[in-house]
Amino acid sequence: MKNKVIIQASANSFGNTHKIINFLNSDNSFDVIDLKTKNIGSFEYDFSNANDDFLPLMEHIIKNYDTIVFATPVYWYSMSGILKYFFDRMSDLLHFKKELGRKLRGKNMAMISNSGENDLKNGFEMPFVESAKYLGMNYLGNIHTWFNGEEIATEAKDKISAFRKLI
Ligand SMILES: Cc1cc2nc3c(=O)[nH]c(=O)nc-3n(C[C@H](O)[C@H](O)[C@H](O)COP(=O)(O)O)c2cc1C
Repeated sequence: MKNKVIIQASANSFGNTHKIINFLNSDNSFDVIDLKTKNIGSFEYDFSNANDDFLPLMEHIIKNYDTIVFATPVYWYSMSGILKYFFDRMSDLLHFKKELGRKLRGKNMAMISNSGENDLKNGFEMPFVESAKYLGMNYLGNIHTWFNGEEIATEAKDKISAFRKLI
């Protein structure tokens, strides 16, 4: 078990986000968790999804990792829906699992996004920066990556290599 984890948050387990993660993790220094394989429902005010995979997953993450890297495609100028569900469910930790939520304090967060082009819109990273602040986590930074056809663009590969050293 490593102490750094990448949370893969794509609708496609073997799509572009997966390619980016494989390049980032070429030295195998991260564990990878694919949210697509988890059953994580929406936030509900009555916590009616409390028995799905979210809480056991968070317990596992909090127990085992100090650095959490979110890897998301750009879907409609935002993080993927699967990742937004995950963030919404952090609210579970602020209510009936407060002790668990407090254990996020002092951990590190980073984010890597991807789309077809190098044209990330302003503000994409804001929910990550502010969520880290709210949860008492240290925000290590983020990069955007993109493709030339099926391949990760050369310039994006250089950014990923620098990002790997940062986190
Ligand atoms: C539902 C959906 C919405 C998308 N919205 C955007 C967008 O707003 N801006 C953009 O540049 N690309 C957008 N794309 C393209 C993806 O960001 C891009 O193809 C990404 O590399 C896909 O990663 P994946 O294979 O892990 O899903 C969208 C793709 C999908 C499927």
